[in-house]
Amino acid sequence: METKLKILGFAGSLRIASYNKSLLRAAANLMQEDTNLEIFDIYGIPAFNQDTENNMPEKVKDFKSKIREADAILIATPEYNYSVPGVLKNAIDFATRPYGDNPFNEKPVAIMSASVGMLGGARAQYHLRQIFVYLNMHPINGPEVIVPFAQNKFDTSGNLVDENTQMFVRQLLQNLVNWTRKLKQ
Ligand SMILES: Cc1cc2nc3c(=O)[nH]c(=O)nc-3n(C[C@H](O)[C@H](O)[C@H](O)COP(=O)(O)O)c2cc1C
Repeated sequence: METKLKILGFAGSLRIASYNKSLLRAAANLMQEDTNLEIFDIYGIPAFNQDTENNMPEKVKDFKSKIREADAILIATPEYNYSVPGVLKNAIDFATRPYGDNPFNEKPVAIMSASVGMLGGARAQYHLRQIFVYLNMHPINGPEVIVPFAQNKFDTSGNLVDENTQMFVRQLLQNLVNWTRKLKQ
């Protein structure tokens, strides 16, 4: 029997009622049984300052070790001003320091985005893909899980109720698992 894969998920929003956090929780429920999705909250990661990068806060040490232990990464993010939210970029920047200690190196990764706007955070997805080049990650290309008008896709408790979106999330997870197993061979 194949060993259970570990996927680490994190959201690019700190909001308690974040649609992207809800999307990650939906992914955890839709995940197939041979895979475990752990969700990490980046809340509490301070603003990165290179002067103190050799004195990592506990929260960042924890983040880095969870990234290292994971077989693959799943990011759900909103788009802020047509790009990646600062808190997400900050968390990624912190995790890749000091130079040469990049836990994302060679990890497979998948992206989802939810937004109240009509483009569903698509522009943030493309900026993230650019960041993955330098991180030396292996992103999967599809399906592109882009959730526009998120306010209509979740109920008031944050459950993903839109069946079409559920189908795309399930397909993305399946592709991430297949891609991860392929890269492990
Ligand atoms: C600073 C800021 C910038 C935003 N810029 C965009 C944007 O460029 N495109 C977009 O579709 N939505 C934008 N939004 C709206 C977000 O899509 C919306 O707040 C969404 O709910 C955030 O995701 P969350 O629910 O996971 O926190 C912006 C929101 C904020 C707070």
